[in-house]
Amino acid sequence: MSSEDYFAYKGILFPTQGINEETLSYVENDFQVRDDDIFNVVYPKSGTNWMSEILGLIRNDGDPSLVRNVPVFERSPWIETDQGLETALKNPPPRQISSHLPIQLFPKSFLCSKAKVIYTVRNPRDVLVSHYYFSKMLKVWKEFGTLEELLQEFLSGNVPSGSWFDHVKGWLQMKDRDNVFVMTYEELQQDLRGSVKRICHFLGKELNDPQIDSVVENASFQKMKDNKMSNLTMIEEAYMDHKKGKFMRKGISGDWKNHLTVAQSELFDRVYQENMQGVNMTFPWD
Ligand code: A3P
Repeated sequence: MSSEDYFAYKGILFPTQGINEETLSYVENDFQVRDDDIFNVVYPKSGTNWMSEILGLIRNDGDPSLVRNVPVFERSPWIETDQGLETALKNPPPRQISSHLPIQLFPKSFLCSKAKVIYTVRNPRDVLVSHYYFSKMLKVWKEFGTLEELLQEFLSGNVPSGSWFDHVKGWLQMKDRDNVFVMTYEELQQDLRGSVKRICHFLGKELNDPQIDSVVENASFQKMKDNKMSNLTMIEEAYMDHKKGKFMRKGISGDWKNHLTVAQSELFDRVYQENMQGVNMTFPWD
């Protein structure tokens, strides 16, 4: 398998392995969203699996047996992949579904449904660093020799799922809908318990204190790192080289400070300001 094959679908890059144009078109135009679907929508490397775990635990009243026994890609399939779509279509309702799709490629039937979307955003500087390390182990992503090379591609949007800026701005246009909830990775980190309660409230699922304690405990970095159903060690070698890194890498905010030079950080800030002008939301990193 070549590690560098991407294709563009409507201007957005996707890895050639595991995703194809037909699936993307089906997902966008034909996939029937159900009112009881819960979507975990995330730009890559922003906490997709963390939110999958949190949602899986909440939906099971804090009981960890589901997240300990069913691989994350089965209980929260990634809809735009060939395998994920197949799983999503056969999972019984109520379904939990993950996606990295920008709003313009998301299932059209969502717009007239009551399905819920939780959109998680992370400081793009940390997304960049996480992407850099993940690309060393994920064979279907292009690997970069230096962070500088990836930085240029990232800021131009030449990466899987397209530009971070466009992805975030697109989804934020939906944020005032009753069935869309925006969360940040940083809030999850600063106050996981409070965040879990807010997610429960959004889902209309009130848990008692011991149940919330169990969600918080089982969604911790260490618990997920030790859980082979969540730490992606089950992904086959054809897709992931487990000798080259760990999916559960550091799980912290601000790691970019250990990686970006002053010049890179200034460039990032400039591009960020240019792109995020007029966005009506303050993020924890602003
Ligand atoms: P790092 O590479 O910075 O460690 P995604 O699931 O979208 O690919 O995101 C992966 C990032 O989320 C990785 O970041 C990973 O460590 C982090 N992550 C996953 N589970 C986490 C948890 N329970 N707590 C904190 N970070 C978590």
